[in-house]
Amino acid sequence: MNEHDSVRIASILEADGMVPTSTAEDADVVVLNTCCIRENADNKFYGHLGALKSVKDSRPGMQIAVAGCLAQKDKEAIAERAPWVDAVWGTHNSTRAAELLRQALSSDVTVCEIVDGPAGASEPPPALPVRRDSPHSAWVTIQVGCDNNCAFCIVPSVRGAESSKAFSSIVQEVRALAASGTVEVTLLGQNVNSYGRDITTSLRSDVAWRERTDLAGPLWAAGERARARPLFADLLRAVASVQGIRRVRYTSPHPKDLRADTIEVMASEKAVCPHLHLPLQSGSDDVLAAMHRGYTAARYLEKLTAARAAVDGLAVTTDIIVGFPGETDRDFDATLEVVAEASYDSAYTFIYSPRPGTESAAWTDRFVPADVVAERFERLRVVVERSALLKHQARVGMIEEVLVEGPSKRRPEMVTGRSAQGKLVHFPADPASIPPGAWADVRVVRAAPHYLEGELVEVTGWPRRKVSIPVVAA
Ligand code: 5AD
Ligand code: SF4
Repeated sequence: MNEHDSVRIASILEADGMVPTSTAEDADVVVLNTCCIRENADNKFYGHLGALKSVKDSRPGMQIAVAGCLAQKDKEAIAERAPWVDAVWGTHNSTRAAELLRQALSSDVTVCEIVDGPAGASEPPPALPVRRDSPHSAWVTIQVGCDNNCAFCIVPSVRGAESSKAFSSIVQEVRALAASGTVEVTLLGQNVNSYGRDITTSLRSDVAWRERTDLAGPLWAAGERARARPLFADLLRAVASVQGIRRVRYTSPHPKDLRADTIEVMASEKAVCPHLHLPLQSGSDDVLAAMHRGYTAARYLEKLTAARAAVDGLAVTTDIIVGFPGETDRDFDATLEVVAEASYDSAYTFIYSPRPGTESAAWTDRFVPADVVAERFERLRVVVERSALLKHQARVGMIEEVLVEGPSKRRPEMVTGRSAQGKLVHFPADPASIPPGAWADVRVVRAAPHYLEGELVEVTGWPRRKVSIPVVAA
């Protein structure tokens, strides 16, 4: 979500006449788009800000701006600790980026504009132009904010209440992207599969949604047809049927809200990728309850089993937190057991960090000592890597359909792309002869925990003609 916001800020500044540079040293304007979800992002930010001060000292006309949820949370601290910052704005103020930078040109103090979370967030997401990072793949925000209250999480307080975008504008946006050459979309939301639950009366008359219910005929049981609002599965199906869209992904769903209808759409719509990112957070029922996650380990595994049974070749990835306050050795062992049973294709593992204002940040008497956390974290890493390697080894010999992203970052003689399961695939080829957006069949010859290596069988498709980069109201 944060990356997507960065792309949107960049597109607003480009629409205002700016052009991107490749280094901060060459830039007249640098925007640090921050994220406060975990503490180390916080720490890195102040490091970057310090480094930029010396760049600015040698380039006095340069402007530095800070955007995003850390800006929202720490606005006073930033202006105080780093008075060389020209402008600060929150997650709901990005549309005004160019204007705020202009105001800052004639201001002696840091220009600051923050609409606080819930007030701004209860409105539908702001209209922002969308620029795609690649003409072939695009993120599409379908919902912002979160109505859950996970004890560790700062998101609800900085992103506000859940707010879904209108069904018709999402479908229109995807159609416009497809018309200009996008073949892959990733639907984004803090809690993507609760899409539609907040839909208000005005959005219920949404034309595209009505059309779909009328068209859907036998797809729906009689009772379902009368349903007044679209749900995530409906949206997934509609996006997957947009002509020209060959891959649909989504992130992140909440396990408690994963419904059979979503799995059914994943199983039946060819364009929906066989990849489920399902954040576990912990394998201990006690910890899950303390986190307010709304599921048990057994329920989570049941859903996973059902998804795997329905969707051919489903890759499963997850998020796990180590060292949540009160986590005992037994709790952690339960996590290791669930991780082994779930046999993940990969997992993002995080060390718990207390975030200001969250419920669990106050449980200081239950904080787990750092050395215990570090040891658990390392044990979990080993189990996850073993599981990922096994999953990847099982693909050796198979042919993956790869959507090419470009030359490999580390080995320029290799081309990199992603398989339908979302795995990075590297293969030797001349990057000039297989451009980004091409499709290649690649036979897997080697597996590593974080990627696959293969050899090119054939190029099966070339990038679709790029008409123009559209500016679409999001
Ligand atoms: N400490 C550690 N990890 C966290 N996450 C969210 N909040 C915290 C926190 N306070 C992790 C969760 C979430 C992912 C995006 O970040 O695992 O799924
Ligand atoms: Fe945070 Fe929980 Fe909402 Fe995810 S579901 S954004 S972890 S509060």
